[in-house]
Amino acid sequence: MSDPKIIIALDFPSAEPALELAERLQPSLCRLKVGKELFTSTGTKLLEQLMRRGFEIFLDLKFHDIPNTTAQACKAAASLGVWMVNVHALGGRKMLEAASEAIAKSKQQPKLIAVTILTSMAQQDLAEIGISATLAEMVLRLAALARDSGLDGVVCSAQEAALLRKHYGKEFCLVTPGIRPAQANLDDQSRVMTPQAAMQAGANYLVIGRPITQAVDPLQALLDINKEIGVMQ
Ligand code: C5P
Repeated sequence: MSDPKIIIALDFPSAEPALELAERLQPSLCRLKVGKELFTSTGTKLLEQLMRRGFEIFLDLKFHDIPNTTAQACKAAASLGVWMVNVHALGGRKMLEAASEAIAKSKQQPKLIAVTILTSMAQQDLAEIGISATLAEMVLRLAALARDSGLDGVVCSAQEAALLRKHYGKEFCLVTPGIRPAQANLDDQSRVMTPQAAMQAGANYLVIGRPITQAVDPLQALLDINKEIGVMQ
């Protein structure tokens, strides 16, 4: 498979369980997401170990800083050879353009995507920080800003995917967490969609953690999900 759709969230506190899981998976069937916890505790060494095993990495560090600092962080991430990096769209146009330019100038060019509004935020959380627009308006507004600033796409809930796909066309990359196979435990996710429904809604890539990482047989869980979304393997 040349473009695996499943990005497995390696939400682990240290390198050992992450490498143990990677040993049980195959790079042709999935990509791996390394976030703030794992990266802070393991640094670039783990990324190198995972990439040496053939895995492509989504480095989920959600940069959000002044334009120059964000651009330099994106440049540094690009030089690591990761497949995808992200920033917060709330950093604004100047920051997004600086990030996008830094990636464009890099030798290796990861996909650059934006987080719009964190899905942990509800309407009253926006009101508390002085934003009176609705959540949906903010997601659309920030997705447009990301696209206009040269980014490849956004992280969004699967519920938002259809609307974003309709507004921003088929080239815009939609990465959706909050995915649960029909029979799976919801854990702490509340608004979930099945892998198949999320793909039908227009998602390009599905971020999936516990339904695979906590499965008795992670490879089988991954194979089942790939089968559900119609990926030949
Ligand atoms: O285990 P689970 O499938 O819920 O993991 C989902 C992953 O996606 C976690 O790494 C989580 O931090 C991330 N994520 C999310 N919702 C967002 C953005 C990221 O669940 N809006």
